[in-house]
Amino acid sequence: MLRFLFLFGMVGSFACPLFASKSNGNELAEKVLYKASGCVACHRMTLDHIGPSMLAVAQKYANDPKGKLTVLNSLKKGAKGKWGNNVMPPQSHVSEQNLQLLTNWALAIKDSPHLESWQKEELVTQESNAILSTDPPMNAKHSLPENRRGTVVEVKDQPIVYRTYLPGASSRAIAVGLPGGISYAFDAKLCKLLYFWEGGFLDFEKSWTGHGGWYSKLMGTKIFEAPAIFPLRMGSNPSPEVKFLGYRTDGKLPTFLYQINGLRVEETIGFDADNRTIVLSFKISDAEEPIYFDPGQSSSIWSSDEAEERDGIWAVKADNLKSFSFRAQVKQ
Ligand code: HEC
Repeated sequence: MLRFLFLFGMVGSFACPLFASKSNGNELAEKVLYKASGCVACHRMTLDHIGPSMLAVAQKYANDPKGKLTVLNSLKKGAKGKWGNNVMPPQSHVSEQNLQLLTNWALAIKDSPHLESWQKEELVTQESNAILSTDPPMNAKHSLPENRRGTVVEVKDQPIVYRTYLPGASSRAIAVGLPGGISYAFDAKLCKLLYFWEGGFLDFEKSWTGHGGWYSKLMGTKIFEAPAIFPLRMGSNPSPEVKFLGYRTDGKLPTFLYQINGLRVEETIGFDADNRTIVLSFKISDAEEPIYFDPGQSSSIWSSDEAEERDGIWAVKADNLKSFSFRAQVKQ
């Protein structure tokens, strides 16, 4: 459970922005707005992260009559140098009215009855983060691993991962942006790759502002559609039961963790730019039964060193059941 909390709690949220924009001085509604506006990428309620904790902000301005104005200005114009070396970009995607709600909310947090439970939750998350991943601990001062232009997020030199609503995905989509202009969508409900696109990463305007729906916009064109069906078969069971467990990033490619019929699977999805090839790598440490891979009605050319194809279905070789990969060639 801890693992799940961390793995899913870390990046962004599915908070419905429509609900958020209706908030009117209700503390929990404002917290939803704070999540939906993209603030959680840099802030925590009680712990310092890339920016100061909301609690520290409330304490700093507790007796400052100009506090409200100062904070509102920081949100509108961006801020730098007051709390450390990291920069807050102008939050221009959030309406003036919502920025006021957020300011009032942040400054009142020191008296919130929820403070203790938030702190507990954040400490647990931080602890499991430290145990499960080699990412820097949550309270380490480091800058955001991405560029932002308003609500458009761009990949820098390492992969970035966002939970968000994506076109053609279930409500549990995970977007991964890779350096070099290649991105993909993974569906955490179906536990499988959905598609790849090329160009920019995502525009979160709709999901962060709540205007006109909440889907994030792909900033490029699709170059690959994964098979519609779940591609792996274990033994003779034709319809495997899948369960998502979370994912792990080590500042590198994310690894998705899930179960198929109770067996733990680790899947890493990458892109070989030189050969324009999508690479799906699977690790199933307790695999014993035969494993099959069905690429479905894919127009791509598939290949694998660890499996053999017969009538369009790939059988993983007996010696490679615990670790194997499949490649799909993508058109220029
Ligand atoms: C890209 C990272 C990032 C995002 C996104 C972000 N912040 Fe910040 N925030 C920071 C940093 C860094 C600082 C400290 C800036 C400084 O030292 O002056 C800060 C400072 C603040 C402050 C203190 C301002 C002051 O004048 O002392 C508040 C309040 C705040 N942020 C709230 C928010 C809210 C609300 C959102 C979402 C609408 C948000 N932030 C989004 C990084 C971010």
